[in-house]
Amino acid sequence: MALSDIRRVLISDSLAPACAHILRSQGGIEVTETPGLSPQELLSQIKDYDGLIVRSATKVTSDVLTAGTRLKVVGRAGTGVDNVDVEAASKRGIIVMNTPTGNSLSAAELTCGLILSLSRQIPQAAASMKNGKWDRKKYMGSELHGKTLGILGLGRIGKEVAIRMQSFQMKTIGYDPIIPPEVTAEFGVQQFPLDEIWAQCDYITVHTPLLPSTTGLINDAAFSKCRRGVQVINCARGGIIDEAALLRALESGQCGGAGLDVFTEEPPRDRALIEHPLVVSLPHLGASTHEAQNRCGEEIALQIVDLVKERALVGAVNAPALTKAFSSETKPWIKLGEALGRLLHSLLPQVNGEIQVTTTGGALKNYGSFLCSAVAIGLLQNADKKVNLVNACFFAQEVGIQVTSRYSSDSAESRLEVSGGGLSLLGGLSGDTPCLIQIGSSPFRSSVSLKGTLLVWTGETNLPKLVEVLASAASQLQTFHVSSGYSVAEVSAPLSDVSALGSCLQIALPA
Ligand code: NAD
Ligand code: MLT
Repeated sequence: MALSDIRRVLISDSLAPACAHILRSQGGIEVTETPGLSPQELLSQIKDYDGLIVRSATKVTSDVLTAGTRLKVVGRAGTGVDNVDVEAASKRGIIVMNTPTGNSLSAAELTCGLILSLSRQIPQAAASMKNGKWDRKKYMGSELHGKTLGILGLGRIGKEVAIRMQSFQMKTIGYDPIIPPEVTAEFGVQQFPLDEIWAQCDYITVHTPLLPSTTGLINDAAFSKCRRGVQVINCARGGIIDEAALLRALESGQCGGAGLDVFTEEPPRDRALIEHPLVVSLPHLGASTHEAQNRCGEEIALQIVDLVKERALVGAVNAPALTKAFSSETKPWIKLGEALGRLLHSLLPQVNGEIQVTTTGGALKNYGSFLCSAVAIGLLQNADKKVNLVNACFFAQEVGIQVTSRYSSDSAESRLEVSGGGLSLLGGLSGDTPCLIQIGSSPFRSSVSLKGTLLVWTGETNLPKLVEVLASAASQLQTFHVSSGYSVAEVSAPLSDVSALGSCLQIALPA
C-alpha cells in the first residue's frame, strides 16, 4: 500500500477554497467537497477515498477509519487532533497530519480579546445598549495595567498571548512542563510551579492540549487557591477548566468572570455557564479568521501534495519517524531495509525478540527510525494485515519483535546491517539497487542484487540440478554468488516447486 498513492480526497468540513484548488492544480487529485455530512453518510462514502480532510466538526472515528479501506491520510486543517482516533489510524497504517501553526495567531488574538472583554464587560455592556439601556454604573471595570496574567501552557499560542498582553503592562507568569524557564524568560514569562501560580494571578488562561493530565487542570482545588475574583479564559479545549467547578466558583464569587471559546460538549446542551452573567462565551471561534482558514487550508493541501509527489512528509502526528522517509534519496534505502527484513524472515522464519538495525556512513545517520519500519515490513511479509511504514513497528511488537536502530561511526561507507536470531545481513546500494553484501561473517565476492526472484541455500549447491530444474521451468540463471556458508542464485522467473533443489529457499522481492 503506497502511502503516496492518493488520487481522491474528500473534504468533509467547511474549508477555504484554496485547499481544494491546490490539491487539484498542484497534486492532480480529484477532490469532493461535502461539508456537513452526517456520520452515516461519511461511513458509506469514505471507502471511495484515499484521503480525508477535516476541521473539528467531522469525527474521524475508528469505524470511519475501518470503512475507509483505501484511506492513506487524514488531514486536520488546524491544531487539535482530538476529533481523530489517532491510535486506530496508526494501527491501520493511516497517516494523520495537522497544521499546528496556521491558526495560532488567530487563537492568541481571540484570547486577548476575551481578556479585554472580561476586564471591561464589553459584550455585556454592548448587549445592554442594544436592549435600550444606558447603564454606566453596572459596567464598572478594572484596568489590565499592573495585573498578573497566569498562562498555563507556553507553546505556540501561550507565547503569543504573553507577548500581546505585555503591551498592556500586564505581568506574565506561567507554567509549562516541557518548555524550559530560560526559553519563556526570553519572551517575558517567568515560570513557577503550578502550586505557586494560583495565588499570584488576576487572570489565568489555559493553552495546553486536552490530555488526561490537563483535564480539570483548573478544578475546585485550584479555584480555592486563587485570589477571590480571579478571571479565567479557555480558548484551548473544553474540559481543561472543569466546567462544574467553574460554575461553583462563579456562583460563590471566587471566580469573577470567565471567557470560554471551547466546551466539553460542542455545541453545549447544558446552558448554565453560557447563561451566567459573568461568562463571555463564543462558539469555538479561535481559528475562525480568513487568514487562519486560508493558512490551514493551504498548508494541509500542500502537505498532501508533498506526500503525493513523495517530496516530504510534513505535519504527521502519528509518524514522526517518517518525516525524512519521503525523498528520492531515502527510497532505495527503504527498499533495502524491506528486502533485508524479508531475507532475514525467510532464513529464520521463527525469528523474534530484538532485531537490530545498524547504519553506518554519515548520510544514513538519521535514517535509523524509518529504516526500522522498513525492516519490520520485510519481517512481516506473511502477516495477513496491510503493513506499511506507519504501522509496521506496531505490528512487529504485537508478534514479539522489537526493531531498534543504532548508528555506528565504525565505517564511513553507507551500509545497513540487520541482525537478529544470531544472524546478520549486511546491505548497501549499487546505484539505486539494493544489494546484499554479506550474510553472517561471509562476504560475497560481488554483491547480490536484492530484486526479483532469489534462490538461497545454506552450504553447497548442486549446480547441474539447478540448471536442469530452471530449464524445465523456463527460468534462467542470471547470477550466482557463493560465500562461505551460503549460495544465492538470481533467476529470471519464479519456480513453482524448489523441493528438488535441496535446502533451497525461494524469495520473491520487488523487481
Ligand atoms: P502547543 O503544543 O504549541 O503548546 C501546548 C503547550 O502545553 C506545550 O508547550 C506543552 O508542553 C504544554 N503543556 C502540556 N501539558 C501541560 C500541563 N499539564 N500544564 C501546563 N502546560 C502543559 O499547542 P498550541 O498550538 O499552543 O495550542 C494550544 C491549545 O489550543 C491546544 O489545545 C489546541 O488544540 C488549542 N487551539 C484552539 C483553537 C481554537 O479554535 N479555540 C485554535 C488553535 C488551537
Ligand atoms: C484547532 O485545534 O485548530 C482549533 O480548535 C480550530 C478548529 O477546530 O478549527
